[in-house]
Amino acid sequence: MAQAVDGVFMPEILGIRISKGMSSVEISDKGKTFELSAFQLYPDNETLIAPRILNIENTKQVLEITFEDGIKSHYDLSVLFHPEPELLIVNASQLLDFENGNFSFIENGAVLIGGGKIIKVGQTDDLLSEVDSLPSIEIIDACFKTVSPGLIDAHTHPVFAGDRSREFSMRLAGASYDEIQAAGGGIHNTVRKTREASDNTLFETAAGRICESFLNGVTSCEAKSGYALNFEDELRSLRIIQEVGGRTPCETSPTLLAAHIIPREFENRRQDYIKLITDSIIPAAVSANLIKTVDVFCEENAYTLEETSEIFRAASIAGVKVRVHAGQFNSLGAVKLAAEMKALSVDHLENVSENEFEALEKSETVAVLLPGAAFTLKMMQPDARKFINRGIKVALATDMNPGTSMTCNLPLMMSFGCLQMNMTVEQTWEAVTVNAASAAGFDKKGRLKPGYDADIVIWNFDHYGMLPYYFGSRHVKSIIKKGKPVSQKVFTGV
Ligand code: NIG
Ligand code: FE
Repeated sequence: MAQAVDGVFMPEILGIRISKGMSSVEISDKGKTFELSAFQLYPDNETLIAPRILNIENTKQVLEITFEDGIKSHYDLSVLFHPEPELLIVNASQLLDFENGNFSFIENGAVLIGGGKIIKVGQTDDLLSEVDSLPSIEIIDACFKTVSPGLIDAHTHPVFAGDRSREFSMRLAGASYDEIQAAGGGIHNTVRKTREASDNTLFETAAGRICESFLNGVTSCEAKSGYALNFEDELRSLRIIQEVGGRTPCETSPTLLAAHIIPREFENRRQDYIKLITDSIIPAAVSANLIKTVDVFCEENAYTLEETSEIFRAASIAGVKVRVHAGQFNSLGAVKLAAEMKALSVDHLENVSENEFEALEKSETVAVLLPGAAFTLKMMQPDARKFINRGIKVALATDMNPGTSMTCNLPLMMSFGCLQMNMTVEQTWEAVTVNAASAAGFDKKGRLKPGYDADIVIWNFDHYGMLPYYFGSRHVKSIIKKGKPVSQKVFTGV
């Protein structure tokens, strides 16, 4: 039975519960499930990491949420079911979007927002006249500012302990990445430290990296496990990824990368570890609702094509999509296999064979290029234009990881795209918004379009070319995350 609240009909709510490491509230009615994150619900918008949620009470369709620090907030559920216009951004010098798949912008643009979603996009004068009669609407003036969808980082490894700065020096002195790994360093080094770290250390360090990325304009990211390589700690890494997504303003799309390398204790019985992944880790991660995709590092010194295929099969049986690290050093055929399996993305691609290009051309799979890794390893950057000219969608991502790309700066990847990978400025914007959304598995993100999530960045420049051109600095003026403006204080520090 629908219930009337001040004349508004609400659906019957079947359940409200605190979920995902106390970092979100899940509300289910007969038709849908909604999730509200701790970050969205926390009343103090001056912090980038919200406390965990301790309790919820539902009185007359208003939720009272109590946080770990004792602070309470109230959320009127009618906002969720009957969104009203709440916020209007006006006077944007350029409002960026990708109508019909092509980069375009509206001058003097405006965006109307309500219930966490974009309601309308258009010219400032038109939208202002529409909201004339709405007394409670908040207006943000984006005069001389470019306004874009929140950036999306489609490939990150944010959960790890320690750093590899000593190995960085060793590599500069002549040791190769493979030599360091064979001697027990590299990924093995990070795995040891990650297994030893406390939950709190892993959460704080991962959340810190994701917040750094947010300050550079990233409002959502794909995030992988893969530095634990055993049953308990891979699942622990995934729970941390979920918690980071709920308690910070940057949502996460979680990926299982238990197949990063073969852990040392399984070196002489690799098939046993692969069986652990296919028969235990994947089913457990799926049944706990901890992952969206499964990834494999298919390379010499990591996983073979046959092993990759076995792990992909287990992912398909469990009902999740796949993605792959492939073609970084050698082309082993995993790009073709992944494209044929409708993978969300194939990533790295410094070395791709002609038949792999053909398989990608025929698929919807996004090519995710990782210039930070090629830069760190002093390799040739892939020519992104070669993919784009063949109709393959390209995303750019940081590959944020301690070994081959220690950065949280996605706009810097756009600079690499323009200056070393043969991309136009417009192509780099597509690569970190609309294409990155497809790669990361976010349906309603990456565009300023009615019905999409209101994840919006207001930039400190009036022409979009500034972002890749002026590299290495922060350019964010302010961010609206799911319709909620994040305090200026977090950007200015005062
Ligand atoms: O994406 N290629 C595999 N994984 C990472 C590097 C991992 C590391 O060295 O820690 C990458 O580049
Ligand atoms: Fe990676």
